[in-house]
Amino acid sequence: MDNSVLVRIKGLNKRFIKKSGPFFNRKTQEVYAVNNLNLEIKRGEILGIIGESGCGKTTTARIMMRLMKESSGEIWFDNADLCKLSESQTKKIRKKMQMIFQDPYDTLNPGMRIVDILMEPLNAHEKELSHQKKFEKVKQAIESIDLKPAEDFIYRYPHQLSGGQRQRIAIARAIILKPLFIAADEPTSMLDVSVRAGILNLLKDLKKKMGLTMMFITHDLSTASYMCDRIAVMYQGKIVEVGPTKKIIQAPTHPYTKALVSVVKDLNYFIANKEYIILDGEVDSTREIVGCPFVARCPHRESQCHTIEPRLENLEQGHFVSCHCHHQIIEKTS
Ligand SMILES: Nc1ncnc2c1ncn2[C@@H]1O[C@H](COP(=O)(O)OP(=O)(O)OP(=O)(O)O)[C@@H](O)[C@H]1O
Ligand SMILES: [Mg+2]
Repeated sequence: MDNSVLVRIKGLNKRFIKKSGPFFNRKTQEVYAVNNLNLEIKRGEILGIIGESGCGKTTTARIMMRLMKESSGEIWFDNADLCKLSESQTKKIRKKMQMIFQDPYDTLNPGMRIVDILMEPLNAHEKELSHQKKFEKVKQAIESIDLKPAEDFIYRYPHQLSGGQRQRIAIARAIILKPLFIAADEPTSMLDVSVRAGILNLLKDLKKKMGLTMMFITHDLSTASYMCDRIAVMYQGKIVEVGPTKKIIQAPTHPYTKALVSVVKDLNYFIANKEYIILDGEVDSTREIVGCPFVARCPHRESQCHTIEPRLENLEQGHFVSCHCHHQIIEKTS
């Protein structure tokens, strides 16, 4: 694998079986959460994953973190295929990759003090260190997330902190083992607007200081454009467009990306005729993809879109789009 690439996902699929209805008349339905997903994350970058609710963002991150098993596919991380590792090999690699979740309430044990929460990963992965050394690391981690002095926070319980402070502790837990890679799944969406910018800037600073590689999941394109070096647009479990943030915002090419950019007021001035594109319907993960995943909602669809799956095609300088009609769309809007 090219050394500039830290993560390469190849042909990733995840199916769920969803049960519904009363127990005497149970119905099962297949959910196609991730569909032949291909993606690369370069060392040292923040890659944004953007897409509407239910398109498979969290499922993809959870599979990468080995919190869930894939149905099929490969995930290469630092030259190992995570899908083929044994349990003990997976445990070792977990030290190098960490996840920050949407809701810090869910992730921090309410019965544990901050010091114990942050000691946990050290006790699991750095057993050989003395208690004193581990304690020093805990203090450093708390100060690195700008809760100072650390002594004021270390013996508190999660409920004695504000939402923003709790998310900072979740971040401290993610970085305490000095990982190579962090997946942040909508880390600010549950927080008060007033503290969101502080958390985003903290993540950006940590990325710089620690040389982290990051996957940043959001459904807010403005946040993605502020945070990310590149953005991957996901639709029904597939990447439909990926490229440098500037290209995605200023020259969106897939009709779905165009619709996303068009409705964000502080971004849409880059679009030629500035009309809002309002899409009908929503992601339908119970439909098996034949052809293009976006076909049912696409204003530009042609007959081949119903039957032939488009591949990611390189437009220019790392800007890829998966759409049969992108040439006509570019002509119409330029
Ligand atoms: N454990 C599960 N069992 C059954 N279906 C699931 C499960 N987890 C996720 N799904 C389904 O898989 C699809 C993708 O879900 P996922 O949570 O990955 O979406 P998402 O892009 O993260 O959405 P959101 O923006 O709302 O967080 C959805 O249709 C969801 O209902
Ligand atoms: Mg999610």
